[in-house]
Amino acid sequence: MSLHTDILVIGSGIAGLSFALKAAKFSHVTIVTKKEQAESNTNYAQGGIATVISPDDSYELHIKDTLECGAGLCHIDAVEQIVKNGPHLIDELIELGVQFSKDEGKLDLGREGGHSRKRIVHAKDLTGREIERALLHNVNTNPNITVLEHHTAIDLITEHNLKNIQDPAAIKCYGAYAFDELNNQVLTIISKLTVICTGGIGQIYLHTTNPAIATGDGIAIGFRSGCKLGNMEFVQFHPTSLYENRISPSDEQAFLISEALRGAGAVLKTQDGKEFMNKYDPRGSLAPRDIVARAIDNEMKKRGDDYVYLDITSLGEENIKDKFPYIYQRCLSIGINMAKDMIPVVPAAHYMCGGITSDLNGRTSLERLFVLGEASMTGVHGANRLASNSLLEALVFADKAAKVCGEDLLNEQLTPPADIPEWDESGTVNAEEWVLISQNRNEIKQIMSNYVGIVRSNLRLHRALRRIKLIRSELETFYKKTRITRELLELRNMALISYLIISSALKRRESRGLHYSTDYPELSKKFLKDTIIDNSKL
Ligand code: SIN
Repeated sequence: MSLHTDILVIGSGIAGLSFALKAAKFSHVTIVTKKEQAESNTNYAQGGIATVISPDDSYELHIKDTLECGAGLCHIDAVEQIVKNGPHLIDELIELGVQFSKDEGKLDLGREGGHSRKRIVHAKDLTGREIERALLHNVNTNPNITVLEHHTAIDLITEHNLKNIQDPAAIKCYGAYAFDELNNQVLTIISKLTVICTGGIGQIYLHTTNPAIATGDGIAIGFRSGCKLGNMEFVQFHPTSLYENRISPSDEQAFLISEALRGAGAVLKTQDGKEFMNKYDPRGSLAPRDIVARAIDNEMKKRGDDYVYLDITSLGEENIKDKFPYIYQRCLSIGINMAKDMIPVVPAAHYMCGGITSDLNGRTSLERLFVLGEASMTGVHGANRLASNSLLEALVFADKAAKVCGEDLLNEQLTPPADIPEWDESGTVNAEEWVLISQNRNEIKQIMSNYVGIVRSNLRLHRALRRIKLIRSELETFYKKTRITRELLELRNMALISYLIISSALKRRESRGLHYSTDYPELSKKFLKDTIIDNSKL
């Protein structure tokens, strides 16, 4: 089965949906999404969108905070672009129906770690869900947008799939093969332009704030087709996810305890009730995430504790219920009243700062392919993302990409070749040994959590690399002879993403931002550059 569209968007978070709404003004857009349309990392974002609104704030301050957090690797042009375009894109979201929290008629601004001013526009503690709701409402009523749920992208369609490679030096993207899970068949989606918006990779770790869909599909797909990747070693661990004493590994996500709590005065304490963050950073509990997550990790290891506490009791019950109703209810459901009790928290994998490299318009190194949101490496985040800059980045780059896609469609001859073949599954059979899949998935999570987490060393990274290489080679053999399922596609992508993170981490022989190595604990000028992995050169 094949389907033709002007623009194929893979993923339905804030990047994909806001891009689609703009691109639908001049083209037909097809969105494919792995599960139901609302299931995305965006949907779970509690914090909000950082933007300069307050009179005591300025673009310069937001840029300075972002650069400081990014530990020398942010691209200044990309940072300036998101900061300066933030305010008008917030207005656009409001016009689309997003209901942000207000205080006396004005947008209520929160504060998070690393920000020198209050600048987080939010919808109580459910910002992502509110944005998804409004964007989906607009998408679902737009006749130029088709949404295909339960469709998992397998691989991009490029010159490599054609019988006659037209120009091997200029690989172009002509859409993607997607697995239609409900009908158990592969759809060939042929497009003039393709946009990867698949979000993050958190599921390669045991503890993650990301939903089960976050298996790094877009980055893996892009890499297999020859895209350049950048800075894959920089995995951000959120310092505070709810500790729930889970016994076995699962794909369930850890419940996020938003940094906005610390912005509202919550402090971190060890189990004996003592504050500890001032020992690590003068900003205390509101220091940037890499510092806070490492400090918690250190305290837990030193004391042999499974968690630390976050104490927000000083804010008072009424304020807590008003500002953080969702977190309050969730904690209450497991017997924690955050107005009286301290909340047990642990760090959890949260955000991938690296990804497919893009220019200021979201263009990748592959012709006719764009990347937006968490799957991209635009240069905004450097070695550590400043809190609440990611929804902003997704919005701004989606806006820029939609403009250049409009120009491309107008000015260029983008008709895809006629000889694009359908997916070939000859020689494959249904898998009998499903235990191999679940076992491999758990193994990957264990390896990445134990050896490639917050604190790394050469010994651990090499051990992880050996094990992941073995899993990958076993998997490739299994993949070639097995009929496609979503679980198999995800597993293959998770193994590749793990390999890429470890390879990038081994290249960076220093400690910078989110990458901390006990073998190279210092910053090194020699490594003041992005870690690029170029698949066309491997
Ligand atoms: C949070 O609410 O702490 C998450 C915000 C973010 O990751 O930007």
